[in-house]
Amino acid sequence: MPQTEAWEKEYRKPQLVTGKAEPQNDVKRYLKYLKKDEKISFEGLRVLDLGCGTGRNSNHLASLGAIITGFEISATALKIAKDRAVEAGLKVDYQKRSIGEAFSLEEASVDLALDITSSNSLNEKEREVYLSETHRTLSVGGHFFVRALCKDGDTNVKELLKNSPGKETDTYINTEMHLTERVFSKEDFIKTYSKYFSITRLEKKSGYSRFGGRIYKRNYWLAYMKKV
Ligand SMILES: C[S@@+](CC[C@H](N)C(=O)[O-])C[C@H]1O[C@@H](n2cnc3c(N)ncnc32)[C@H](O)[C@@H]1O
Repeated sequence: MPQTEAWEKEYRKPQLVTGKAEPQNDVKRYLKYLKKDEKISFEGLRVLDLGCGTGRNSNHLASLGAIITGFEISATALKIAKDRAVEAGLKVDYQKRSIGEAFSLEEASVDLALDITSSNSLNEKEREVYLSETHRTLSVGGHFFVRALCKDGDTNVKELLKNSPGKETDTYINTEMHLTERVFSKEDFIKTYSKYFSITRLEKKSGYSRFGGRIYKRNYWLAYMKKV
């Protein structure tokens, strides 16, 4: 079951998510890479934003001429995303649906899929659907960018896994948000994603996450992948 209630509460009274409308920095860097190294033009590019939140990445890509579909479980986040798109005169297909269930898209109908810290909320059964559906809907040669919560070298994660473990492997319960999250070691990330995709770059990056009034240092995986 998607963790709709926990995310809905979060968007109604944000403690973790940022209200920023501009794209996430790692996404900006990835788009530069696509343009420069992969010679990708965003005009007409078919993009699927998995767990699109308030549309900060989707709306940016739409402003560059891409054709966007955004899947999101929180109605509150989707309303913000849609309102912002309308205000900016952008056309984006925002859909209220879980990325852990069959996608409403044709086979090979996506050129670029983004998962910006969204699939960590899935359980193992949902993750299998998300992986196989992303693979099915991506065109051959299509790109997949994932930013995911990292287990390695993260002291906050180590404490959470010890003090507040979830039912499945490498999950913890964020008790303030009533949210279960899955973290990945490098080996685990590669094993999970390379079943479906070719990983062209995998970087570990430290970042800061705000929760309530506090700031936590967190590690993330940034994965540049392709369907071959
Ligand atoms: C950390 S936020 C990131 C939002 C957005 N990707 C961004 O970069 O701003 C994670 C998002 O994933 C969404 N999410 C979590 N589980 C989901 C699911 N099963 N299906 C669709 N969206 C989901 C949450 O509602 C939330 O908007």
